[in-house]
Amino acid sequence: MTIDRPLRWAIIGAGGMGRWHVNALLKRTDIQVVAACDVNPQALDALPEGVARFADWRPLVETVELDGASVILPHHLYPEVVCALLHRGVHVLKEKAFARSLEDAVTMCRAAKETGRQLVVAGQHKFKASFVATQEHLGELGDIFLTRASILYRSRAIVDEGRWGWRGTRRLSGGVAIVDSGWHILELVTLLRGVPDRVIASTGQMRVSAGEYDVDEQGALILEYPDGGIGVVLASFVTTPSEVRVTLHGKRATLDADLQAERVTLVRGAESQGVPLGEVTDPAVRMYDLFLESIATGQPSPGAWSQAVQVQRVIEAAYLSAARGSVPVALAEVPAALTPYPSPRGTRSGTAARGEGPEHL
Ligand SMILES: NC(=O)c1ccc[n+]([C@@H]2O[C@H](COP(=O)([O-])OP(=O)(O)OC[C@H]3O[C@@H](n4cnc5c(N)ncnc54)[C@H](O)[C@@H]3O)[C@@H](O)[C@H]2O)c1
Repeated sequence: MTIDRPLRWAIIGAGGMGRWHVNALLKRTDIQVVAACDVNPQALDALPEGVARFADWRPLVETVELDGASVILPHHLYPEVVCALLHRGVHVLKEKAFARSLEDAVTMCRAAKETGRQLVVAGQHKFKASFVATQEHLGELGDIFLTRASILYRSRAIVDEGRWGWRGTRRLSGGVAIVDSGWHILELVTLLRGVPDRVIASTGQMRVSAGEYDVDEQGALILEYPDGGIGVVLASFVTTPSEVRVTLHGKRATLDADLQAERVTLVRGAESQGVPLGEVTDPAVRMYDLFLESIATGQPSPGAWSQAVQVQRVIEAAYLSAARGSVPVALAEVPAALTPYPSPRGTRSGTAARGEGPEHL
């Protein structure tokens, strides 16, 4: 699809993380933001005059001619909004996580497949120069027998003040540590190591934050890969120091990627050297560049739904494992067709019927 004018764009959900997208979009000359929606009118204040403002996304989707849209909403709203846009022929870039559940993710994948529109899950770390360099140096490691990865930070508003909003209700968010902050790190690990055979997970039992909530505050995952390698992933949004890090231990070398510091180190025996990074661009610029390229060429960009659904399967397996008391869950048990959401820890849940894999969506 070649369009020799700025693409007509909408932003749905302009508060919170939406502000990051508003800033990125308003700087571009190849995108014209023509409409925006938020239930909170103040969230639309940053938009210039001339942008059509909506409090309800439905009339926006029904009446505005669009090429693309950025959707940044509470997780439970994604399937309806994203599917409506796709069915109107609009390419969609949505914030991570893909979905609160695999069922929601599959609903959106089906719409993308049926309509042939691009559907991409944002998540800035995969667009960073340090991650691109990590991908480029994978071949120097030999067989990767151990992967260590973590995403840690502390949300003061939630931990100290108990201001959970929609995040604290699992029915709305799907969870927090594993599916929300964990999305970032599990996506990176999946892009580097592929889909594991089995997942073992625990979300612990200790409540750390103030307020009412029924979601996970931290998650510890063990991933077992078909080649015999293992991975250990930690996700927590209730502790410091902040960290976004992946370390890959291979038979020939170790690669340590600090995504926060944008620093990658290659270690061979006792020798350690910094890996030169390519151009360090704003990940938002690179993300939208690649999304527009995917619209023009029809080729999927990083975060495309076909990749993202694999991450969602790992997350589904992790929550199933945690709910069952940290028993191993085979990925074969969580085909993309699985629908029920796991019930609370200690009860048997998730009628994990064997069935079609994501390739059969
Ligand atoms: N990539 C990142 O680092 C990052 C960071 C934070 C959040 N996120 C993701 O961004 C998304 C939003 O999270 P957030 O923290 O910004 O949430 P938020 O609650 O701060 O903001 C959500 C926005 O959506 C608006 N909204 C709610 N219901 C709406 C509706 N029915 N129609 C229109 N607007 C509506 C709210 O008014 C608010 O402005 C989530 O998917 C989250 O996981 C990503």
